[in-house]
Amino acid sequence: MTDQLLSQKNILLCITGGIAAYKAADLCSKLVQAGAHVDVVMTEAATRFVAPLTFSALSGRAARVDMWTEAGGQPIPHVQMAAAADLVIVAPLSANTLAKLALGLADNLLTSTLLATHVPWVLAPAMESHMWSNAITQAHATSLAARGALLVGPGEGRLASGALGVGRMAEPVEILAAARAVFARGGPLAGRHVVVTAGGTQEPLDPVRYITNASSGKMGVALAEVARDLGADVTLVHAPLAMPVPYGVDGVRVYTARQMCDAVLDRLPQTEILIGAAAVADFRPAEAASQKIKKTPGQEALTVRLVRNPDILGEVATRRAQTGLPAVVVGFAAETQDLLANAAAKLAAKRLDIIVANDVTEPGSGFGADDNRVTLLFADGRQEALPLMGKREVAWRVLQAAAALGGRTRQEAEAS
Ligand code: CTP
Repeated sequence: MTDQLLSQKNILLCITGGIAAYKAADLCSKLVQAGAHVDVVMTEAATRFVAPLTFSALSGRAARVDMWTEAGGQPIPHVQMAAAADLVIVAPLSANTLAKLALGLADNLLTSTLLATHVPWVLAPAMESHMWSNAITQAHATSLAARGALLVGPGEGRLASGALGVGRMAEPVEILAAARAVFARGGPLAGRHVVVTAGGTQEPLDPVRYITNASSGKMGVALAEVARDLGADVTLVHAPLAMPVPYGVDGVRVYTARQMCDAVLDRLPQTEILIGAAAVADFRPAEAASQKIKKTPGQEALTVRLVRNPDILGEVATRRAQTGLPAVVVGFAAETQDLLANAAAKLAAKRLDIIVANDVTEPGSGFGADDNRVTLLFADGRQEALPLMGKREVAWRVLQAAAALGGRTRQEAEAS
């Protein structure tokens, strides 16, 4: 799938001296794979860690270090590169260059180019913890953020010195997500609050056992990521997931259907679009034993009585009838038979705007798979059968359909 946000964008990737410069090679590769045009500028110190040739090979364009070498007929490269850029990424950003940027110094190609840009900066600091926590560095970081720079990290972990602490450069995927977040500003869902549920709820039998299902949470995570990329403020209410909550998404971890229901209902007054992608257990053990259930000699069977869980989207429909929020509610129907008829019945029963019908018996589609073949059913009777596609692409189609239905902003709802 083409990367709608990064494809064809001109990214100026700046690399300063630090061991994390090796990770910038991965970042450069990921940007190129996403379809971006990447110009690389390095400081002299950065070239001590990774050769410019590495970045020239990955980007397909000559990496630049020197202000004074005329390259490709461009006598003033910093002005030309600054004018062409849609976004600047500095990764890793050393304490030294961070200070220079905050002060507006222009003493090498990298700092001169950045001073000449008028596009957003994504900065990924990387340094020893004491340098990062130093009040001088903190003041410079605050001043850059106040001027609109987006700082990603640094994270906590093992540093070049071997010590553990804060100062580790954010991972390339996080920096990439931050770059997407910048391009997402002003997207079709900008200023809208989207809540997505994901994962299979866990219903405890005793302190060490629970009933759950085969949901991986991949579809819900893809929805949260794409909603973020369309500019929304996103909350992901999720049962335990096999993957991390995406960068820039507010994760709310729950275990049981009742916890998920409470978390969703609590947020309803702020939710404009709700997407129920979680596989919610319809039943839970009537009692969760306080101690581990032990088998007794000769015991051949164990009977567990299950009781109904709340229907989260059903509860949402009741509240929505009074408040009008969320403006758009999307559900999923994972079926093993009579896909469209069952999905249409759920669409009506849960008073949804859209239901995403998914035959989970189809190989390569549904639970745990990377792809999905779904049909969108709309409350007005329209149906849209989509071909087998990646879950991110399905998410894109679902969110575009939801956005097209509208979705009042909170302020609009409160004013009415
Ligand atoms: N859902 C929910 N609360 C539940 C069960 C499901 O909000 N207790 C939501 C799911 O997140 C999904 C939709 O309802 O968006 C359909 O879920 P599904 O389990 O397929 O439908 P059920 O209503 O549970 O019907 P059944 O299990 O009988 O097929």
